Amino acid sequence: MASGAGGFTISSHQWRRAEAFIRDRYEKMRSVFTVSLLQRKVTFLVGSEESSHFYRALDSEVTQDEILRFTVPTFGPGVGYAVDHATRLEQVRFFGDIMKPAKLRTYVDLMVAEVEEYFARWGQSGTADMKQELEHLVTLIASRCLLGEEVREKMFGEVATLLGEINDGMSLVTILYPRLPIPAHRRRDRARARLFVIFSSIVRSRRSSGACHGDMLQCLIDARYKDGRATTETEVTGLLVTALFSGQHTSSSTSTWTGASLLTHPKHLRAAVEEQARILRRHSDRVDYAVLAEMDTLQLCIKETLRLHPPTMMLMRLVRQSFVVSGKDSNGGKHEYEVPKGHTLVSPLLVHNTLPHVYHEPSKFDPERFSAMREEGAGLAYASFGSGRHACAGEAFAYMQIKVIWSHLLRNFELQLESPFPETDWNVLTPGLKGKVMVTYNRRKS
Ligand code: HEM
Repeated sequence: MASGAGGFTISSHQWRRAEAFIRDRYEKMRSVFTVSLLQRKVTFLVGSEESSHFYRALDSEVTQDEILRFTVPTFGPGVGYAVDHATRLEQVRFFGDIMKPAKLRTYVDLMVAEVEEYFARWGQSGTADMKQELEHLVTLIASRCLLGEEVREKMFGEVATLLGEINDGMSLVTILYPRLPIPAHRRRDRARARLFVIFSSIVRSRRSSGACHGDMLQCLIDARYKDGRATTETEVTGLLVTALFSGQHTSSSTSTWTGASLLTHPKHLRAAVEEQARILRRHSDRVDYAVLAEMDTLQLCIKETLRLHPPTMMLMRLVRQSFVVSGKDSNGGKHEYEVPKGHTLVSPLLVHNTLPHVYHEPSKFDPERFSAMREEGAGLAYASFGSGRHACAGEAFAYMQIKVIWSHLLRNFELQLESPFPETDWNVLTPGLKGKVMVTYNRRKS
């Protein structure tokens, strides 16, 4: 539990109140404001101009270091916030290399094969929990593209369970007391230790046999620091866990939100289905990297989904060097504020992504707002993948896999949402969807 100077208390199930509080402060007061939270001064920056320093300042001015140290028991030693800044930047570069277009191209075939195999198991018609199905599918895609065939063939079930335990070991309590000996943290630590054993043995066996694979695990094994040093088994395990932790829940919840949004907006659903027919006709029903890049309608639907349902609600930094930011009051008057060294900075994406002076009818699902004609949300006004120095390393990968999934579903099935439009599950650190998301499906006639 944390208590704020503005009289607001936040516990894990009160994210919603936090959001309402920030929105209220923003609407009634100004776009830059500070509250006291757990003996910390927390400054919120709402809006694209206001957030410029948050995303673009040097790490020596605004840092993630101290703020994200709570992730160390999750990602483990040797990586992320357990190592010095220079080493961490090199590790981020490894991700950048792995996500380059030349590499991404090779993942598309793997994704398509996984998705086709998965939905081949569905019958002619039926009912399914889309949330559960897509969670499972996203883990299978990760295991094929990122973890490699050893995991996929021999221990997929065990690895999926261990990753689940690592995810469940992250809550608000973890931010405050990352090593508190609660059952969820103990399970997380045991799961990490077991994953280390599994991946170390794969790394050793690949290194000794000289075998070469096309997955992300292999890229991490082959990665070299600037001084020529190879990655260790501990680092490879930690980097894999980092990628999976960052990419799994975010991608699967976005896939389900995208489906729920399309199935409740017939006009956009029709446009997305027509786009699939048009593009696939031209490419003889083959989906590859270039074909995915043509799917603009689907891309905009996913982007709009992420605007309304960003899996990461707030991004945080620590101020290392005081700076001045220009903000607006509730009448639109401009003011300059000094944000002192030591303040925690927050960019609240949920509010940031729905500002009425940026987005027309901000709560409406309207993918066309991002079209070339309208160009809403340009620059920093849209930040579901972060921006600047620490922007998401997996954005392109995430779009690719969500597009592969929905391209397949739209072409092969008529779907109907049976549950009401899902509510957000505010009970978890990275809000997802509450409860089951039931759909009925009928296979389209070919
Ligand atoms: C819809 C899916 C995803 C969303 C919405 C998302 C969102 C984000 C956001 C907002 C950040 C920035 C955090 C900050 O500025 O503090 C981030 C960072 C990161 N993401 Fe993603 N992400 C997604 C998928 C992925 C995937 C699939 C991967 C890897 C396979 C990935 C790997 C990373 C990594 C490594 C970082 C840290 C980058 C750095 O510190 O420089 N993400 N992500």
